[in-house]
Amino acid sequence: MRIWSAALEAVGLLAVAGLLASLAAAAPPVARPKLSAHDAEAKALLAKMTLEEKVGQMTQAEQDKLSDVKDIQTYFLGSLLSGGSSDPKAGNSLQAWTDMYDAYQKVAVQTRLKIPILYGVDAVHGHNNVLGAVVFPHNVGLGATRDAKLVEEIGRITAEEVRATGIQWAFAPCVAVARDERWGRSYESFSEDPALVAELGAAAVRGLQGADLKDPLRVLACAKHYVGDGGTSWNSSPHLAAQGARLDQGDTRLSEAELRRIHLAGYPAAIAAGVGSIMPSYNRWNGERVSGSKRLLTDILKTELGFEGFLISDYNALDQLPGDRRAQVKQSINAGMDMVMVPEKYKEFYAALKDLAEKGEVPMSRIDDAVLRILRVKFAMGLMDAGRSPLADRSLQARFGSPAHREVARRAVRESLVLLKNDKKTLPLSKTAKRIVVAGKNADDIGNQCGGWTIDWQGKSGPVMPGGTTILAALKAVAKGGGVTFSKDGSGAAGADIGVVVVGETPYAEFKGDREDLSLDKEDLAAIANVKKAGIPVVVVVVSGRPLILGDALTQADALVAAWLPGTEGQGVADVLFGDYKPTGKLSFTWPRSMAQIPINVGDATYDPEFPYGFGLQGFQR
Ligand code: BGC
Ligand code: BGC
Repeated sequence: MRIWSAALEAVGLLAVAGLLASLAAAAPPVARPKLSAHDAEAKALLAKMTLEEKVGQMTQAEQDKLSDVKDIQTYFLGSLLSGGSSDPKAGNSLQAWTDMYDAYQKVAVQTRLKIPILYGVDAVHGHNNVLGAVVFPHNVGLGATRDAKLVEEIGRITAEEVRATGIQWAFAPCVAVARDERWGRSYESFSEDPALVAELGAAAVRGLQGADLKDPLRVLACAKHYVGDGGTSWNSSPHLAAQGARLDQGDTRLSEAELRRIHLAGYPAAIAAGVGSIMPSYNRWNGERVSGSKRLLTDILKTELGFEGFLISDYNALDQLPGDRRAQVKQSINAGMDMVMVPEKYKEFYAALKDLAEKGEVPMSRIDDAVLRILRVKFAMGLMDAGRSPLADRSLQARFGSPAHREVARRAVRESLVLLKNDKKTLPLSKTAKRIVVAGKNADDIGNQCGGWTIDWQGKSGPVMPGGTTILAALKAVAKGGGVTFSKDGSGAAGADIGVVVVGETPYAEFKGDREDLSLDKEDLAAIANVKKAGIPVVVVVVSGRPLILGDALTQADALVAAWLPGTEGQGVADVLFGDYKPTGKLSFTWPRSMAQIPINVGDATYDPEFPYGFGLQGFQR
C-alpha cells in the first residue's frame, strides 16, 4: 500500500486547487434574491417595535421547556425549537408534530404585531425526529457519493417532509470539516477535505431552501457550526470531560490562515447558495469562544463574507462564556449574535438583554441590526405575507415517508457504499445461492443503521423508526434461492455458500461519541471469526459513523464494504451486494491503519493509511 504515498502530494495540491475552483464555482448561477432586498418592509416593522418585542425576536426557547404556552406572547418569542429529544406532548406522530406546530403558531400570531415564529428542528438526515420519516444516510456517507445533485435532492425532500409538519427551519447542513475521527460528530461532516464540504454543503443549502426562500415547499437552512468545530485538539474540552468529551466543544488551535483554509471553506459557499442562518459553534479558537468573538462573527462572517442572514447561537452556548449571565449575553450580542438558543432559561435571557439594552451596554443599533436580520429572513420566507397562512400545509403529508422519497434515500445508500476490498470476486453475491448466512449486530437493526439524531438526540438501537428496511430484510427480499439465514454471533455458518457479517458502531451523538479507541469491538471480531471458521467466503459490511480500525477483520474478510450510517433504506445495501448497482463510492475520509495514525488527513506530510482519501473500488474488479 506504499504506492499511495507517491500520489499523495499531488492529491494534497489537488485538494487546494479544488477548493479554489469550488469557491469560484460557488458564485450563484442565477441572481439569487438578496435578503437585504426586504429591508424596506423589515425596517418599517422594526420602527413599530418596542424594546420588549425586539428582544423577544432574538429569543429562541425549547418547546418542551416552556413553563407556559402564553410565554410565547408574554416574551414575544421570535422562535421555538425542538431539540434532539423534544417530542410533542401528545406523543410522536406526524399528526402530533403538526398539531403542536400549529398550536404554537396560533398563539404567536395573536401578539400585537402578529409576527409568526420560526420553528427550528435538527432535520440533519431527513425529518429524523418524527416517526415514519425517511432517514437518509448521514453526511459521512453522502460525502462518499461525491454527488452534489443527489445531496441537493435529499435537501429538497427533507424540506418537504419538514414542511409537512409545518416546521420551516432545519438546523442543517453541518459543514464541519472533521479532521479527527475520534470526534463524536465526524459522521455529521461530509469530508475531511474542505473543498468537498464546500461543494456538498452548498448543494444541501440549495436543496433545503430552493432558489427562493419564499418557496412554501422548502425550509430555511442553517450552516453550522461556525467555525472550527471539526478541528479541536484532544482533551481540550475539560468542561465536558466528565461526560466523555475529549474533542467536542474543545479548542481549535490553528493560525488564522489554517482556520480559513480548512474550516471556513463551507461558509462562503453556503452564503453564495443563499443560506439564511448560520449557527456559531461551541468551540474555542485559540482559547476564545467563537460565540463571543466579534472578529469571527461580525468582522469575518458579516462584514468580510457579506452574510446578510442571522446568527443563531448553539444550545446553551452562551453559558460557556466568561462571567455571569449578564456578561455572557453582553459579550455574545455585542460580538454579533442575533438570536440566542436558550432552551430553558429564556426568561432570564430576555431580562438580561432588555436590561443591557436599557443601560446602553448593548447599543440599540446592535439590537436593531439583529432584529432587522431576523425580520429580513421572515419577510424573505413569505412568513409575513398577509395572504399566506403560517400554519402547516397538511396536503404535504401525503408525501411524508412516501415510496418516492424512500427511492431517493435508497439511491443515496447505494451511491454511498465504498467497496474497500474484493478478493477472488467475492462480490457480487449470487441471487440463487443455496444459503447465505448473515451475521453481526448491525445486520438487523434500523436504529444502528440510522445512528445518532434519529428519534432521540443520541439515537437508539432497535426498531426505532417504522417504515424502513434493515439490511437483513433487504438481503432476504432479493435472494431468490430463499436461503438467507441469520445468526447474530455468526455461529452455525458451516455449509453456507457465503457469509455476510454486518458490524460496526451503535448510535451516539455529539460529545457522547468522542472515543479514544475506534477498533471494532470484540462482539464484531467474534462474529467475523465464527463465520470464517466455517471455511466460506466472508463479506464484511461496516456500519459506522467513521472509519474504524479493522485489525484482523481486514485479513479475514474476502470482501469489505463501508456502509456508513445508511438510514432507513437498507435495500440500497442489497442493491450493491447483489450487483444490481456497481459500487461507485469513494472515501471522503482517510481510513487509518491504527489509532496511532489519528489524526490523519489527505495532504499530511507523512501519509500511509490503510486506504487513502478518495479510495474505493469502482465496480467489482478485485
Ligand atoms: C448541537 C446543534 C443542534 C442544537 C439543537 C446542539 O447541541 O450542537 O448541532 O442544532 O443542539 O438541537
Ligand atoms: C437536546 C439536544 C441538544 C443537547 C445539547 C439535548 O438534551 O435534546 O437537542 O443538542 O441536549 O447538549
